[in-house]
Amino acid sequence: MNHLPGHDSPGLELPQPDAAAIAHSARLVDVIAARIETRGGVIGFDEYMQMALYEPGLGYYSAAASKFGAPGDFVTAPEISPLFGICLARQAAAVIAQGCSARILEFGAGSGKLCAQIISTLPTLEHYQILDLSADLKQRQQNYLRAELSAELFHKIEWLSSLPQEFDGIVLANEVLDAMPVHILSKQGEWHEHGIGYHGQGFTWQSFTPKQAVIDSIRSIEARLGDFAEGYRSELNLNFGPWLKALAQSCKRALVLIIDYGYEQDQYYHPMRARGTLTCHYQHRVHSDPLVYPGLQDITAFVDFDACADAAEASGFVLSGLVTQGQFLLANGLLEEAQRRAHGSDNLSQLALSQQVGTLSLPQEMGDKFKVLAMQKNLELEMPAMQRRGVHG
Ligand SMILES: C[S@@+](CC[C@H](N)C(=O)[O-])C[C@H]1O[C@@H](n2cnc3c(N)ncnc32)[C@H](O)[C@@H]1O
Repeated sequence: MNHLPGHDSPGLELPQPDAAAIAHSARLVDVIAARIETRGGVIGFDEYMQMALYEPGLGYYSAAASKFGAPGDFVTAPEISPLFGICLARQAAAVIAQGCSARILEFGAGSGKLCAQIISTLPTLEHYQILDLSADLKQRQQNYLRAELSAELFHKIEWLSSLPQEFDGIVLANEVLDAMPVHILSKQGEWHEHGIGYHGQGFTWQSFTPKQAVIDSIRSIEARLGDFAEGYRSELNLNFGPWLKALAQSCKRALVLIIDYGYEQDQYYHPMRARGTLTCHYQHRVHSDPLVYPGLQDITAFVDFDACADAAEASGFVLSGLVTQGQFLLANGLLEEAQRRAHGSDNLSQLALSQQVGTLSLPQEMGDKFKVLAMQKNLELEMPAMQRRGVHG
């Protein structure tokens, strides 16, 4: 079959890429098609997503196109407002005051804006390490941060190519877990996995029997939540366990803050979400067909925060809590910081600041959809911002 029912977006008009972009995408299609052939005609969607996003030189994050902000495909919190990084810096300062080391390790630093916001707000920070899978983004981060920061601040930053040893400090991952490859499964009597084949003209969806580890994982979710309805389809991310285990092993003492869009498991696999959460971004159009423009569009899936929390505990972290981004930012001084910056500024700047506060924290904007999961290793930090309050608390 040529599309996964409900995973295409009928009627969606996407902007046409230029000839160079189409040629780039065609090169990636050839590489993925060759992989499909060596695998006997089908690869799992997780492998397709991995290649579409991270194939060296060709994948969406590995290649040189703009991704973030107005000229790109999507906007993340640090791109929306410096208030995001300022609030994270306030949280960092609060835990540093309790004895946490004044060092940060940021995964997937995007354009580098979050790093700039934090490092400029927190003069006591000793060291800022960045680990990104994308060589192109690393180059962009270096160019941006060198231009943006004083030489003294810039020299606090170090780019890593693998996990550090004996890390001691604060780990940040904003919108990183949603960019990790997922399996797509549907229930038709038994569980089926949806993978990708190639027929010479383009990719096709192919279903196959999942590996036992995949079946075990989805069945353990069913055991927790009750049987899923016939035809139910969703995603399963099996990367959280290995990623958190490797992170735990590389940390001597750490506070880890994971920020992303996602749900707790009963909401993630809610009957009303019977087509899953897979989302694609191309030039600020949001749709659900991951086979369009391979290498030119972002492909993401929401984060199952219970799966992430379970993997964290199994890796030796102690959970500090899960709150909405709105709760987290408000508890870390979002309104006070906005007022402070608005003081003495013109009306337009004040209006912009109040719009930024709304976008970051209102429930109908990013406030509820995004969550913050905090965990610690070998620390006993008090984190009032992680206490749940209010309707969702
Ligand atoms: C959606 S972007 C978010 C960028 C940035 N954090 C922001 O909020 O603007 C996802 C980023 O995560 C990176 N990434 C994905 N998986 C990663 C991993 N396992 N380790 C390090 N970086 C990763 C990608 O290369 C990309 O830079």
